[in-house]
Amino acid sequence: MSKVKSKFVCQVCGYESVRWFGRCPNCQSWNSFIEITEKKQGFNNRESKENLGVYRLEDILNYEPVRLKTGLTGFDYVIGGGIVEGEVILLAGEPGIGKSTLLLQLAISLDKNDTRVLYISAEESLSQVGLRLRRLNSGDKLNIDFVSERDIENILPNLENSNYSLIIVDSIQTIYSSEFPTSPGNVVQVRECTSKLVDFAKKNNIAVILVGHVTKEGDIAGPKILEHLVDAVLYLEGERYHDLRILRVIKNRFGPTNDFILYEMKENGLFEVEDISAKVIENRNTNVSGSIIIPIMEGTKPLLIELQTLVSRTNTSYPRRITSGIDLNKLVLILAILEKKLNISFSDKDVFVNVVGGIKISEPAIDLGLAFALLSALINKPFPSDMVAIGEIGLGGEVRTVPHIERRLKEAKKFGFNKALIPKDSKVKSYEYNMNVRTITDIGEGIDLVWG
Ligand code: TYD
Ligand code: MG
Repeated sequence: MSKVKSKFVCQVCGYESVRWFGRCPNCQSWNSFIEITEKKQGFNNRESKENLGVYRLEDILNYEPVRLKTGLTGFDYVIGGGIVEGEVILLAGEPGIGKSTLLLQLAISLDKNDTRVLYISAEESLSQVGLRLRRLNSGDKLNIDFVSERDIENILPNLENSNYSLIIVDSIQTIYSSEFPTSPGNVVQVRECTSKLVDFAKKNNIAVILVGHVTKEGDIAGPKILEHLVDAVLYLEGERYHDLRILRVIKNRFGPTNDFILYEMKENGLFEVEDISAKVIENRNTNVSGSIIIPIMEGTKPLLIELQTLVSRTNTSYPRRITSGIDLNKLVLILAILEKKLNISFSDKDVFVNVVGGIKISEPAIDLGLAFALLSALINKPFPSDMVAIGEIGLGGEVRTVPHIERRLKEAKKFGFNKALIPKDSKVKSYEYNMNVRTITDIGEGIDLVWG
């Protein structure tokens, strides 16, 4: 027995309720509720009882999921050794960052191993996809199917019992279900279409990759509301006008999270960057004031990044603070600490901070390096080009230790850095690294060591 159940959903934030509201109790939007009816299977449905699969835990103890190797080494690694049958992956990123490029490369690679792939692009015209294919030098022997359709109700019924191993949907914001009275890209459409695709993937054991656009503001109708519906969430990040891209795994039901892979966007597609630190060091400018190399941790791997700062006299009464790659609040905080604890004022200065290559960093370990880059820019004296600085700065100006100091030092040593400034409480034996490692408790002490 099936019964029709209805619910009311806010089109702005996705809040669900059994009754209609004039104003959403969650996001306060007016007139945003629409009614959605869904067919639910009754609980005393005999068929579903018979289909109930009961397993013994001991039987599934050594169960290993079947994985589909894509042939893109980095992608397979990030996802935990290949895509699991029936897995639903969300690939999120800003428009133009390279999501379609990556997925087309993936489809081409799978096709080379005779794996059947369907590419559903509701977003681009045939000529756009053709153009991308030519750029990727895919060759003309391609057995990948392509569909340009937006209504999911016209897509899914045709795919039951198909022999595809992977279906790519580009993008979740451009497909819709004609069952719901709202436009594509709307929270309700995005969520309901994802649910339908998840059901489809699980029932047919076909893996699905969804593309989700995020805007700079972290659009709510975007991937955020989908994260709990899918098995894995990957983010492709980078600055559109730089060539470095990071593919990060944020959620992974079938593998580790925290891993990432770095790509370089070239004329003919995305290419894995094996040694990120080497690339950063190769392109760095030495003996420039305001610039510093900082060893950061991305997941479990250390890597060197270059931070550049520019400090200039301001022409307005509101000095500008602009950052790219780090949080603006972090800059404001470090400036406030320098002013309060060391009496070094930036109040008549515009301050700009940039992480080279478009990499985004959120870890506190860059605090000390950031402080030195700012001071170096202010006094117009380069930070020593063979030195790194690692540490978090507390509100009292004290330098605190951060995890994995040893790995960071080793990475720096590998690339020829002989000196390091680290927090006093890090308990690292300097002779182990064959480096001149100096420990400090506050920034003032560090300044004496560097420029004293
Ligand atoms: P695209 O994959 O279309 O981004 P998304 O799907 O995330 O919106 O890639 C967009 C940019 O990448 C576009 O500006 C062109 C550039 N590009 C290259 O530099 N090299 C290439 O081989 C391809 C296919 C694209
Ligand atoms: Mg695209």
